[in-house]
Amino acid sequence: MTPGEHPSCDDPGWDTNVAGREAAQLQGFLERLFDLSGVDLSGYGKRALHRRLRSVIKGEGLSGLGELTERMHADPCFLARVLDRILLRVTTMFRDPPFFRLFRQRVVPVLRTYPYPRLWVAGCSTGQEAFSLAILLREEGMYDRCRIYATDINEAVLEQARAGLLPLASLDEYEHNYRAAGGIRCLSDYYTRRETAAVLDPAVLDRIAVFRHDLARDASFNEFHVIFCRNVLMYFDEALRERVHRLFRESLVRLGFLGLGQSEALQLTRHESAYEALAPRQRLYRRVR
Ligand SMILES: C[S@@+](CC[C@H](N)C(=O)[O-])C[C@H]1O[C@@H](n2cnc3c(N)ncnc32)[C@H](O)[C@@H]1O
Repeated sequence: MTPGEHPSCDDPGWDTNVAGREAAQLQGFLERLFDLSGVDLSGYGKRALHRRLRSVIKGEGLSGLGELTERMHADPCFLARVLDRILLRVTTMFRDPPFFRLFRQRVVPVLRTYPYPRLWVAGCSTGQEAFSLAILLREEGMYDRCRIYATDINEAVLEQARAGLLPLASLDEYEHNYRAAGGIRCLSDYYTRRETAAVLDPAVLDRIAVFRHDLARDASFNEFHVIFCRNVLMYFDEALRERVHRLFRESLVRLGFLGLGQSEALQLTRHESAYEALAPRQRLYRRVR
C-alpha cells in the first residue's frame, strides 16, 4: 500500500490492520495511564480491558481513547474514577462461604502450631476479605498473635479498608455469608451502624496492616503462612499470572496455604505440582514443594 491509500473492508489485511491499530492505540493509552497514575495495566487481559474502556468511554459520553486520555490528564479526580472502574473493586465479606468454612476447619488448626502466623490478602479491595479473616481468627482465639497484610494497587480502596467501613446496603448479605461460613456469633457484634456506613470495631482492625502493593511490579515483602489472592488473577494475562504465581510460591512457607477465587485454578499453570488442593471444589491449596 502506498501513502494515502487506505485499506478497505474487502482487503484481506483489513481485520489485522484494524486490530493492529486498536492494539497500538491501547498501548499508547496504557503508557499514558502509567505516566499519570503509576498503574501498569499492560499485563491485563486485553479483551476485558477493551470492554471496560468502551463502557467508560460510553458512560462518560466521550469520543474515544484520545478524549479519555485528555480528560484524565486534565482532571485527577476523573483519573481516579476511571482507574476505579477499570480495576473493579467488587468484594463482599465471607465471599464464597464454603471457602471460609473449609479455611476454619483445615487451615486454622495448622496456623495454631505457628507462634506468629502471617497472612497476606493480595488485591484486598476495600478490605472485606481481610476483615473476614480477622473476625474468623478472633473467634478461634488466635487473632492476637496473627498479622494480616492487606494490599491493593488502588489507593482509593485502601483508604476505605483502613477506615474499616462497610456499606449499609450490604450488611444483610454479609450477615448471611458470615453464618453460612460457620460464624459463631452475629456479625453485627463486630460493627457499629452510623448514618452513612457501618464501622468495624478497632479490635477487628487492630492486626491488619493496609498498604499499596502492585502485583505486576513489586517484590514480596515477607514470608507468609497464608496468601489469599481471590478474583484478581482472572483479569491478568498469562504472563502476568505466571509472574504472580512465582511471587506467591517464593513468598509462602513450605506447607503454607494459597487461596484463589472460584474461577481461578492452579491447574494448567507451571505451579500446579507445587500444591495440593484441600478439597475438590474449593480453590484452597497447600504448598507441598
Ligand atoms: C474484584 S476485586 C477482588 C477483591 C477481593 N480479593 C475479593 O475477592 O473479594 C480485584 C482487586 O484487585 C486489585 N488489583 C488489580 N490489579 C492489581 C495489581 N496489579 N496489584 C494489586 N492489586 C490489584 C483491584 O484494585 C481490586 O481491588
